[in-house]
Amino acid sequence: MDFHAASIIVLFSLIALTCAEPVKFADCGSDVGKVVIVDIQPCPKQPCELHKGQAYAVNVTFNSAVESQTSKAIVHGVIAGVPIPFPIPIEDGCKSGIECPIQKAQSYHYVTQLPVKSEYPSIKLVVEWELRDDTGKDLFCIKFPVQIVS
Ligand SMILES: *[C@@H]1O[C@H](CO)[C@@H](O)[C@H](O)[C@H]1NC(C)=O
Repeated sequence: MDFHAASIIVLFSLIALTCAEPVKFADCGSDVGKVVIVDIQPCPKQPCELHKGQAYAVNVTFNSAVESQTSKAIVHGVIAGVPIPFPIPIEDGCKSGIECPIQKAQSYHYVTQLPVKSEYPSIKLVVEWELRDDTGKDLFCIKFPVQIVS
């Protein structure tokens, strides 16, 4: 291996170590918005490992296609295909980094905390995260796998 190739490998390993990549998500029906990027910190490798007793910073960047006075977050943990409500401390999107009223064709960062309770089982599941507008339509709906660990 020549010096050039070696330095490229070193560079990429450094990038991998220092910047966590955006979370790979699936869109589950963002009717009136479009998700740009999903970031969870810390999540050095995917699927994100969520340690019991810790809280994770979630940051969803999305564009809104509608106006809305309100926004409400609803989170489910999907276990073996069954969605189970996953309570979050602040459901109000307008208190989670979003300046309301939401304007049409604007970009927003929805920023909140995801606390992982110590009584959760150590399982792999899919997190489904929705943010609903005034009419109950999804400004975004994303899903991504996580692994709960002790
Ligand atoms: C959320 O993510 C966006 C896009 O990556 C970034 O510009 C913004 O600063 C982040 N906000 C917080 C509070 O981390």
